[in-house]
Amino acid sequence: MSLAGRLAFVTGAGSGIGRATCFGLAKEGAIVVAADKNFIAVQDTVDILPKSTSEHHLPIEVSVENLQDVENALNKTLNIFSRPPVVIVNAAGITRDNFISKLSESDFQQVLDVNLKGTFLILKTFANAMVQGQVQQGSIINIGSVVAKFGNIGQANYCASKAAVDLLTKVSSKEFGRMGIRVNTVLPGMIETQMIKSVPDKVKGKFLEMIPLGRFGQAEEIAQVITFLASDKSSYINGASIEVTGGL
Ligand SMILES: NC(=O)c1ccc[n+]([C@@H]2O[C@H](COP(=O)([O-])OP(=O)(O)OC[C@H]3O[C@@H](n4cnc5c(N)ncnc54)[C@H](O)[C@@H]3O)[C@@H](O)[C@H]2O)c1
Repeated sequence: MSLAGRLAFVTGAGSGIGRATCFGLAKEGAIVVAADKNFIAVQDTVDILPKSTSEHHLPIEVSVENLQDVENALNKTLNIFSRPPVVIVNAAGITRDNFISKLSESDFQQVLDVNLKGTFLILKTFANAMVQGQVQQGSIINIGSVVAKFGNIGQANYCASKAAVDLLTKVSSKEFGRMGIRVNTVLPGMIETQMIKSVPDKVKGKFLEMIPLGRFGQAEEIAQVITFLASDKSSYINGASIEVTGGL
């Protein structure tokens, strides 16, 4: 599954699935631009990455919902590496859970801004750079969520944002597929990261009962699927939504 010398750009790289993805890609020989709104966290990520070429992995601070930030991140990447990334992973994401009756406008908007608009801005900006750079084979991997398929109490904003990411992926796969850029979504189930720390134990217990494998997933188990989608081993997969849920 070699990614030797390929340049990858990963958002949400300071924690959980994003950090594990940076590691998985770098292990296969990729050079990684690790992007997150938390710069100290991405510096820590870069410090643990395996290195297989003379090029250095790069930490970048970016708020994905801010177009200027996203364009700055692309320009910095182009200045340093003189080429656009050919692998893009949109793993930045947030939750602001509450029942709809109590959900504030700002918590609704923030989740849509980061999860959906952020994915759109990164996808558009970096896919355009790939097209301009005449990249022959690109791979964009977005992170949805399996809960967006069936809904989850207290997560109207999150489920709506992730369902939209899945459709954004499908449209992108049609528009960019003809240019040699594949776009796919990974739909994780319950994965043990910082994100699920705020989920009440009672709710976690209910989810556990519904998972045939009898456990939550690890970030590395999502990263492995993302690394596969980044590689040529998945060369005919485009517009797919791949569940990684232990059967939930
Ligand atoms: N953990 C799960 O069970 C689970 C399940 C389904 C989907 N997901 C999705 O997987 C992705 C990764 O989540 P995780 O579990 O690793 O969470 P996490 O909280 O461990 O990591 C999320 C990272 O995103 C960064 N981030 C947040 N807002 C940002 C912004 N505006 N700009 C840039 N970076 C920002 C955070 O700083 C953090 O480093 C998210 O999109 C999440 O919705 C997670």
